[in-house]
Amino acid sequence: MTQKRAKVAVVGSLNMDVVVKAKRPPEMGETVMGEAVHFIPGGKGANQAVAAARLGAQTLMIGAVGDDPFGQSLLESLQKSGVDSRGVKTVSGVATGIASILLAEGDNSIVVVAGANGRCLPEDVEAGRELLSEADILLLQLEIPLETVLTAARTAKELGKRVVLNPAPARELPDELYRLTDVITPNRSELGLLTGRPVEEEGLEAAMRELLDRGVGCVVTTLGARGAACLSPEGGFRRVEGIPVEVVDTTGAGDAFNAALACGLSEGMDLPAAVDFAGRTAALAVTRLGAQDGMPQRKEVEAFTKRLNGG
Ligand code: RIB
Repeated sequence: MTQKRAKVAVVGSLNMDVVVKAKRPPEMGETVMGEAVHFIPGGKGANQAVAAARLGAQTLMIGAVGDDPFGQSLLESLQKSGVDSRGVKTVSGVATGIASILLAEGDNSIVVVAGANGRCLPEDVEAGRELLSEADILLLQLEIPLETVLTAARTAKELGKRVVLNPAPARELPDELYRLTDVITPNRSELGLLTGRPVEEEGLEAAMRELLDRGVGCVVTTLGARGAACLSPEGGFRRVEGIPVEVVDTTGAGDAFNAALACGLSEGMDLPAAVDFAGRTAALAVTRLGAQDGMPQRKEVEAFTKRLNGG
């Protein structure tokens, strides 16, 4: 039997990641010498689009870049991975989004300047309605204006599509957005921020249940090296173990996870199977430097799965 090809739409951000490696982060007011700097295509939306395309999904993106060299190279990065970028507009006189990323002591810290992402507007979603109708699942994050996210979710539901919301970076959300969301995917700290509840092991399930009560279809919480947890009315609460790997760079791990989750669901996997597939994709992504540069191809995830199964 041939597997159904996933059809994924992403409405979200594109950033140029300026990645600096240093032995340790500076204290406030201190200067430290870095070891290397890399300019790597990023942005949660674009990362998710690239990851989905590399996993074999027919993928389209709606977003905005500035009319500068960074904008041009972000568009090229999408196209190189096979993402349909017709929905990404170029805004004159505005800088492309930038993420300043410090890699130190095995972790990262990120400051994002939205730039052109702030110009990704509800009218762009309306103009892209026909494009959106080609997909069967919509992936959203929170690095573009909230009104645009809401319009995209409404449009997707009107078109009968499923909506996956990655609530990153976390912020307070309108009730309507919860009700429009089929799968919400906070990490542990985003879950804490959204619910105001304790999210350590004992509190985790109750916090996730709170999001179900607000109207989402199901909740998937990513837990870094500890794997993930999912909660749905049909399947209840389940933990999925993390996969031990040699970590090089965790930037974009959540994006790899979300893209794979959307692909898996669009291909017809059930929630636990899609979460499992997402965990394997994210585990591979963290073994490489850079957000988009680190996104694995489908055949690499399949080979990794074979190795995990002792094949
Ligand atoms: O999720 C990782 C991404 O967050 C980076 O690529 C950076 O651009 C920030 O948006």
